[in-house]
Amino acid sequence: MNEAEAANRLMRLAREIARHDRLYHDQDAPQISDAEYDALVRENRELEAQFPHLVRADSPSKRLGAVPTSSLAKVTHARPMLSLENAFSEQEVRDFIGRVRRFLSLPPDEPVTMTAEPKIDGLSCSLRYEVGALVMAATRGDGTVGEDVTANVRTIAEIPQTISGAPETFEVRGEIYMSKQDFAALNERQEASGGKVFANPRNAAAGSLRQKDPAVTAARPLRFFAHGWGDLSASLAPTQQDAMQAIRELGFPVSDLLVRCERVEDALAHYATIERRRADLPYDIDGVVYKVDRIDWQDRLGQVGRAPRWGWRTNSRPRRRRRCWRPSTYRSVAPAS
Ligand code: IVH
Repeated sequence: MNEAEAANRLMRLAREIARHDRLYHDQDAPQISDAEYDALVRENRELEAQFPHLVRADSPSKRLGAVPTSSLAKVTHARPMLSLENAFSEQEVRDFIGRVRRFLSLPPDEPVTMTAEPKIDGLSCSLRYEVGALVMAATRGDGTVGEDVTANVRTIAEIPQTISGAPETFEVRGEIYMSKQDFAALNERQEASGGKVFANPRNAAAGSLRQKDPAVTAARPLRFFAHGWGDLSASLAPTQQDAMQAIRELGFPVSDLLVRCERVEDALAHYATIERRRADLPYDIDGVVYKVDRIDWQDRLGQVGRAPRWGWRTNSRPRRRRRCWRPSTYRSVAPAS
C-alpha cells in the first residue's frame, strides 16, 4: 500500500471505528461482531505502525471509547480509566511478556508472575468511597470524563453502600453486568410488556444503568465484579492478587477464576480452562485479562497511549455482538451465584 492509499484507509478507519463506538457505547445497538470490530482496530494499529507520520489527530488509537452523550451529569475521573490492548494469539501473549521483561531489564531467569481472570462483558464502573461511604459511581465514558450514575448504583444489592477497613480514599473499579438468566427473564418481561428488547446482557446492563430514573435501574437485576482500583490514599497490597483479595474482603464480588500464574504456560492453560467453561458460566465473558502481579512493576511499566503496559486481554473466540435475542440462547443456564 502506498502513502496516499494508507492515508485514505486511515481516514476511513477513523470514521468507521468512531461510528461503531457510538453505536456500541451510546446507543447500546452494535452492528458488527467483536471480531469484526477488533479487526478494524488491529488494521488501524498496524497501518499506524507502518506509517507513523500518518497518525491522525482523530485516530481511534488516541481515544479511550465513546464520549458520553447522555443527559447524565459528567464526572472527571481522579485517575483515568484505561483500556487494554488485545493479544490476538498465544505468540502475542508471549510477546507482551517479552516486552515487560525488556522494559524492566529483567534477567532471563526472573519469573514474570501474572494474574489471569475472565474479562467480564459488562459496563465499566468506578466506585469512590470516602471514609467508608460510597460517594460517587461513574461510568468510564471516554476514560477521562464519565457519567455520574451514583443514584443508580445505590440500587445494586451487590455493591456495598458502606465498607470498613478500606483506605480513606478508595476507588474500586469493575464491571456492572447482568447474568445470562436474569437477562433472559428481563427480555421476556420486556417482550410481554411491549418494552425494549435488548440484544445481549451487556447492552441490557448498559441500558439499565444509564437511566435518568434510578427506579428503572432498581427494577433491573444488575450485578458487579471488581477487577481493579483507581484513586487510593494508601496501597492495598504489594501484588495484584493480594490487592484483589483485600477488595474481596472489603465485601466486593471478585471472580473466583482469578489466579496467579508464574509461567506463561500456566497463564495460557488458565485461558484454556476459562474458554472450556465459557458456555457454562452464568455470565457472558469477552476473553481473558492478564496483569503483571507485582504492583511496583506495574508502576514502573506505566502506560502507553490509552493502555497500560502491564496488562492486556486476549479473546480467540469472540461472541457475536449483534446477537439476535432468542430465549433459548440464555434460558438453560444456571443462575449466577
Ligand atoms: S482490567 C487498565 N480486568 O475491559 C485497564 N478490565 O479494555 C484495567 N474489563 O472497560 C482494566 N473485565 O472495564 C480489567 N477482569 C477485568 C475486566 C476488565 C472486563 C473491562 C474494563 C475495561 C475494558 C478494558
